[in-house]
Amino acid sequence: MAKVKVLNHPLIDHKMSIIRNKETDTKKFRENVNEIGSLITYEITRDLPLKDVQVETPICVTTCKELSKDVVIVPILRAGLGMVEGIQTIIPTAKVGHVGMYRDEKTLEPHEYYAKFPDEIVTGTVLVVDPMLATGGSASAAITAVKKRGATDIRFVGLVGCPEGVERLNHDHPEVDVYLAALDEKLNEVGYIVPGLGDCGDRLFGTK
Ligand code: PRP
Ligand code: URA
Repeated sequence: MAKVKVLNHPLIDHKMSIIRNKETDTKKFRENVNEIGSLITYEITRDLPLKDVQVETPICVTTCKELSKDVVIVPILRAGLGMVEGIQTIIPTAKVGHVGMYRDEKTLEPHEYYAKFPDEIVTGTVLVVDPMLATGGSASAAITAVKKRGATDIRFVGLVGCPEGVERLNHDHPEVDVYLAALDEKLNEVGYIVPGLGDCGDRLFGTK
């Protein structure tokens, strides 16, 4: 049985129907991808570790909590960029690393073309983000890339996935928790998720 957590939340489902609709324009698509990114982040960070800190309120000194580990967002270029602002809205202190992957249109194999990560990748909680988990090749390669730089606490965060992509991540990186807003039916013969939302990078950036 594939290990994946699908976030069930009315606001996420409502916004997913907006981004799935082919009539949704670039501006509205981008806004909703970011908003879903915020909502998912709120749901998947309930277990982040905290430490006690002393805070002086206008009345007295008291013990409060703050995050004890850094959070590092690693969007997979290009489409992952569409979720970064939404995640930073919820975690403004998060650092951002980048990994560039493109899928060969024929073989569907991922190719890494860029990688730059902050030092906190080694000690922090790393959120590898990409709206689309199709074959899982890009996500798996991106996770391998952050592991190579020393990351150990890694979560994958996506919007739309399919069984093939989840199986691939479970197989290649069994210790990585996979979070999605929706788990769709299948991949079609050209590697697109069905029903999916089409080409996410193109819809975010208005290409094509
Ligand atoms: C898309 C998408 C994912 C990848 C998913 O990127 O944004 O990164 O495909 O497919 P996979 O699970 O089969 O690897 P694409 O290669 O089209 O590049 P882009 O984001 O630059 O458009
Ligand atoms: N990449 C996309 O943008 N959409 C898909 O359906 C599959 C891969």
